[in-house]
Amino acid sequence: MAKALELRNITKRYPLVLANDRISLDVGWGEVLAIVGENGAGKSTLMKIVYGLVKPDQGEIIVEGVPVHVTSPRDAIAKGIGMVHQHFMLVEPFTVLENVILGSEPGSPAQIDLARARTEVEALNKELGFNLDLDAKIEDLAVGLQQRVEILKAIYRKARILILDEPTAVLTPQEAEELFEFLRKFVQQGNAAIFISHKLAEVIRVSDRTTVIRDGKVVGTVNTKDTSVEELARMMVGREVILTVQKTPKTPGEVMLEVEGLVAQSHNPKHSLKGISFQVRAGEVVGIAGVEGNGQTELVEALTGLRPYLGKVRYGGQELPQKARAVREWGLSHIPEDRNQRGLVLDFSTRENCILGDHYRKPYTIMGFLEADNIEQHARMVVENFDVRPRSTELAGRRYSGGNAQKIIVGRELSRDPRVLIAAQPTRGVDIGAIEFIHEQIIAARDRGLAVLLVSADLNEVRSLSDRILVMFEGRIMGELKAEEATEERLGLLMAGIRA
Ligand SMILES: Nc1ncnc2c1ncn2[C@@H]1O[C@H](COP(=O)(O)OP(=O)(O)OP(=O)(O)O)[C@@H](O)[C@H]1O
Ligand SMILES: [Mg+2]
Repeated sequence: MAKALELRNITKRYPLVLANDRISLDVGWGEVLAIVGENGAGKSTLMKIVYGLVKPDQGEIIVEGVPVHVTSPRDAIAKGIGMVHQHFMLVEPFTVLENVILGSEPGSPAQIDLARARTEVEALNKELGFNLDLDAKIEDLAVGLQQRVEILKAIYRKARILILDEPTAVLTPQEAEELFEFLRKFVQQGNAAIFISHKLAEVIRVSDRTTVIRDGKVVGTVNTKDTSVEELARMMVGREVILTVQKTPKTPGEVMLEVEGLVAQSHNPKHSLKGISFQVRAGEVVGIAGVEGNGQTELVEALTGLRPYLGKVRYGGQELPQKARAVREWGLSHIPEDRNQRGLVLDFSTRENCILGDHYRKPYTIMGFLEADNIEQHARMVVENFDVRPRSTELAGRRYSGGNAQKIIVGRELSRDPRVLIAAQPTRGVDIGAIEFIHEQIIAARDRGLAVLLVSADLNEVRSLSDRILVMFEGRIMGELKAEEATEERLGLLMAGIRA
């Protein structure tokens, strides 16, 4: 039987890199193929080629044994190929139903047959066990549910080959589990799926085979049941990766960040902060664990001067104006959770992105003039020290792969010698080698006396980096645990709003 999808010698060159270098792979009906590789290895580029978003320089795409030309997503959909992007493409103020049928509405353009659409979509919703409320607005849905809408949309368009590019990066462990159940069922019904992820344990759990890509080339394909996280990591990175953080106990110093009775409003009452108090000392990492959407985003925004609040926040004992510039000048660094919105200006060059937020100060601006040499030198330092690939200071923010964009932000924020670092999801979308590196950098900064507030949806990350862990639930702190008492179980209960 012909393979569901076959790629032969796909090549794509960008001005600075050969993103795909004669890549060949295949996926059969009934199979989940995982694709893994370091940040910038070329995974997303390859999938965008298959989905008609990027034109390859060379190579063939073969669907069910027939060579096809895919020059737009419309072509891809017509061939039964669907894609769920990491950044969802949904229209936020529209309902679930409207989003699912958008662009393939039944009936005539003059008269959309809404009743028919509703019946069809409801039937699919049932069949997939998605439990979506078709009349809910996208903006009111949790991320995990938004992703289901994306999947429903692809399947409504009759996708039989489903591509998922880092689908679990923003999911809770529970949501990820449900996605895997769906994927297994989907392929058991005779479909095919391609799954891209940096979470190698998940790759091993859900895929049948795994193709490893490095520097745009296929390194090899393995049967997933015969491999391990360690082997995949080695194939990806080309060396052993140490998967645990080396951290020595430290006695923390003076209080650098003090929060007292913090109250802040959000459009969703569940996310509003209802009186939060805690301290972070110099030389300690305080982790905030919790299911996303329990006020973590609002807390970070308040502390970084991006959201108004009531209550007291003291930075090194001082109250500061509730302004991003004021807290930044004092010495607060911020790794924001949304790198495309807040972390980078996508049209700015690396050089410009490396001084964002400090561009008006010495040594980048002196007496009102931008100092090109100092700016260039700083960018080179960030790119070198944080292994940003490609090693350019010119490239526009949007041309970086997800993980490399994140490295620019982490590098910029850590290299300005801050007193407090607020890090939200610092390694989301980052490959396993780079996670190891970023973790080492955060711990080294802590050892030099930096106070770190770490917000992460990744429990492993919170547990391995933090000295103390606070758990947030519906805008409150449910409890505090020392790192060594924070078992997954105890954290899980607090995260669900249950006090032992
Ligand atoms: N439009 C573009 N212009 C120039 N270079 C690009 C463009 N898009 C991607 N690249 C480069 O191609 C390479 C591969 O990028 P790609 O996004 O495919 O990586 P990836 O494997 O998906 O990485 P990640 O795990 O970080 O998402 C990177 O070096 C990237 O900078
Ligand atoms: Mg990618």
